[in-house]
Amino acid sequence: MRSFRTLDDLPAEQRVLVRLDLNSPVEDGVVQDNRRFSRHAVTVSELAETGHRIALMAHQGRPGRDTFVSLEQHADILAEHAGVDVDFVADTFGDETLAAVRDLDAGDVLLLENTRMTDDELPEKEPEEHADSDFVRTLAPEFDAYVNDAYSAAHRKHASLVGFPLRLPSYAGRVMQTEYEANTAIAEREFDGDVTMVVGGTKATDVIGVMEALDEKVDRFLLGGVAGELFLRAAGYPVGEDVDTELFDEQWDANEETIRSVLEERREQVTLASDLAYEDAEGERAEIDMDDIVEKTQAFLDIGSGTVADYEPAIRDSEAVFVKGALGVFEDERFSVGTVGVLEAIADTDCFSVVGGGDTSRAITMYGMAEDDFSHVSIAGGAYIRALTGEPLPAVELLIRSAERDA
Ligand code: 3PG
Repeated sequence: MRSFRTLDDLPAEQRVLVRLDLNSPVEDGVVQDNRRFSRHAVTVSELAETGHRIALMAHQGRPGRDTFVSLEQHADILAEHAGVDVDFVADTFGDETLAAVRDLDAGDVLLLENTRMTDDELPEKEPEEHADSDFVRTLAPEFDAYVNDAYSAAHRKHASLVGFPLRLPSYAGRVMQTEYEANTAIAEREFDGDVTMVVGGTKATDVIGVMEALDEKVDRFLLGGVAGELFLRAAGYPVGEDVDTELFDEQWDANEETIRSVLEERREQVTLASDLAYEDAEGERAEIDMDDIVEKTQAFLDIGSGTVADYEPAIRDSEAVFVKGALGVFEDERFSVGTVGVLEAIADTDCFSVVGGGDTSRAITMYGMAEDDFSHVSIAGGAYIRALTGEPLPAVELLIRSAERDA
């Protein structure tokens, strides 16, 4: 089987450029601590303890979004988890970065500014083109090796993910290694009983396309979150459009055709919410049956408790359940009923279960569930769901190519 090299293969005393995925929820400008920090801290502290000189790259948000902020706060959060100092430079590959990188001593850790603040990072391009960008051409010569730990961003063809492996000997970090092993095992595993997939979250575009690809592997989809509302819209309900958020219309335009065809061709595989929750005039959680909704005048923030009750037996009867994305805005306890109800139902069974989807796994700790009650808790979203379909991940492919090139 084709494979990549890991930290076990990394020579001693290297100048390493490391790609992490610290993309996190941001509330009122404050970056929220989450599993990505604690998981990547394992790779960072191992590299620091073994005396490498370490420069870290990561992204946060996308230009134009509220979550598109500097990585300055990330450095402090990561330092706390890794138990080492993490310096920060507010620059991606300019003179300031080069000076700070050249100044690194053995065991030093430096975090560079949000990779998406350079224009070279974001366009989805072929690795060869990225390897030729100023960003990659300038930084690569400062290092002996590249380590990619950003499994959860491995589905993106961005410069920091696919450009550097063409210029440097490349290795998988510990998160990349464990996530890849667990999620590839899922793609290859056969289940005798029913396979259920819980689909939610805000990045509907990521999941809807692959729902088509998964129809052979998955017996039923239970929907919530933004994707759930978009499917309800396709089913003729007056929901799934922007009212006070900008999450729906753009994703509807991008996916309408696929949603309609999934719904038409596989109606019996897709279970939609029968009720939704919203915030009433008193600021309390209120619920409404789908059939009573005449017009969407405000945001729906969770599936209703009737829907949770509908979903529970399906979960109990499954041999495997995969969760991709939250079913509501669980960070607000009033709207955690859907996500927590479904996760608790999964935890109560002994089915094979994987929870992935950006920050969905945060609900597990927030609401006092145990990670051990699930077979695997992934910190990946889009990459995780692609792995389920067996689709290759560009950044992983590049790590494998690097190993083959240097063999
Ligand atoms: C994620 O948070 O799922 C990854 O970091 C990818 O982020 P993106 O969807 O903004 O590319």
